[in-house]
Amino acid sequence: MQVIIQPTAEKAARLAALLIADQIGTNPFTVLGLATGRTMERLYSQLVELYSSGKIDFSKCRSFNLDEYVGLEPTDPHSYRSYMNRNLFDKINIDKESTHLPDGVAEDYAAEARHYEELIEQAGGIDLQLLGIGRSGHIGFNEPLSALRSRTREKGLTRTTIDQNSPLFDRPEDMPSRAFTMGIGTILDARKILMVVTGSEKADILAKAVEGPVTSMISATALQLHESTVVIADEDAARDLQAQDYYHWLYENEPEWRKYHDKV
Ligand code: GLP
Repeated sequence: MQVIIQPTAEKAARLAALLIADQIGTNPFTVLGLATGRTMERLYSQLVELYSSGKIDFSKCRSFNLDEYVGLEPTDPHSYRSYMNRNLFDKINIDKESTHLPDGVAEDYAAEARHYEELIEQAGGIDLQLLGIGRSGHIGFNEPLSALRSRTREKGLTRTTIDQNSPLFDRPEDMPSRAFTMGIGTILDARKILMVVTGSEKADILAKAVEGPVTSMISATALQLHESTVVIADEDAARDLQAQDYYHWLYENEPEWRKYHDKV
């Protein structure tokens, strides 16, 4: 795992967007794993900007989102499908047919989960998985005690997650308490992982996720088992990290990062 600290949330999002642009530049057929949440909105607007200035071509990409609320139609403005259309898909040249999210209104949960795993496999697996982190330490909607090898399934959400996300609903009580999510095992199968974490309210959980012991109580700690994970944090989120000096040194000195210095 590499941790990169940026002075602001804006710069963290910018660097993440540049890494995605490079990935798609190298492999136009990239299969993207996508995430939702407030952190990603900033990143998606950076991607839209890079697309608008001709720096990314999404036309051959395919995508799989991490999760979707159970019980919400894709057309529901609060569904993650609507979120993705609004924040990214409607503004870039990705073929909507190549974008996937679990079907929140599927009748047979187990069959839907299996089908989603099959679709990812048929696409050849995920090349680059984007992640945020929930305050409960979840990635996707893998709440505490999710098995570290779990696959896509339907899960109940914790109070912490409901409190975190319900303000995004017109009526907070309308937030579903269950969701489909890729499993931790599904996420760890991605060839590369890029996690973006911003804001002081994430400082405590980020330190536990990155520098704490691996535990299924904090799903994000499973990323320590992955061979190619980059975590980009802003200074507020990085506040509680013990090895901050080392992470800063890495970004300043490693050749792979130097090329981004004047672009961020
Ligand atoms: C939701 C998503 C997660 C995301 C989290 C963080 O719970 N299921 O994938 O990481 O939100 O959201 P935010 O960026 O709004 O803090």
